[in-house]
Amino acid sequence: AKEPVIILNYKTYTESMGEQGRKLTWMAMEVMKETGVRIVACPQLPEMYHHKNLDIEIFAQHVDPIEPGGHTGHILPEALKCAGATGTLINHSEDRMPADQIRKCVELCRKHGLTSVVCAESVEKVKEVAAFKPDYIAIEPPELIGSGIPVSKANPDIVRNSVNAVTDPEIKVLCGAGISTGDDVKAALALGTHGVLLASGVVKAKDPKKALYDLVSLIAPKTVTG
Ligand code: G3P
Repeated sequence: AKEPVIILNYKTYTESMGEQGRKLTWMAMEVMKETGVRIVACPQLPEMYHHKNLDIEIFAQHVDPIEPGGHTGHILPEALKCAGATGTLINHSEDRMPADQIRKCVELCRKHGLTSVVCAESVEKVKEVAAFKPDYIAIEPPELIGSGIPVSKANPDIVRNSVNAVTDPEIKVLCGAGISTGDDVKAALALGTHGVLLASGVVKAKDPKKALYDLVSLIAPKTVTG
């Protein structure tokens, strides 16, 4: 079965930190419960404990390719698990890493039972990181990030070609950049993706709860009442 996923990246927006961030996670939980659509929240790392033990999956925004030891200031995969994360973004457009480090991060995630979501900016990069066998690859053209122009409509070819470039059936492809409406999500799924990765369309929305309901409205297995 192909269960779509909506991954909500909190980035470092003030609207998604502290008390507001916690409220956002509770909203996401409510929308998920009511609609049956899987939503994953990615709060900032220092705040992860405030989102722990809730009825929603939490992914980190970053992890470092390190083993326990002397790595001051780095993020250890084991520490993410302690903080309540069940997965992590890797190589986000705003936090790139070299290919060998991406590979090591994916391996460490596999070893520690964390879901890996590797971001890629091009079809070539999608092909390159697919060799590392992450759980997800998110195609995100950097020029559309934060633009409000949805990649699933502005550049369907890059999404379609990314889906086609991944021949391993175990790897699921997501798309992100400018996604903000139910229509954008529907278009993303129609292109063969398993879901979307987004931020500003919800985090910066005047009414984030309404934005979340709208986002899942066309793919919800249960009737949306919000
Ligand atoms: O991680 C999601 C992201 O980079 C896309 O950002 O604000 O265009 O949804 P946004």
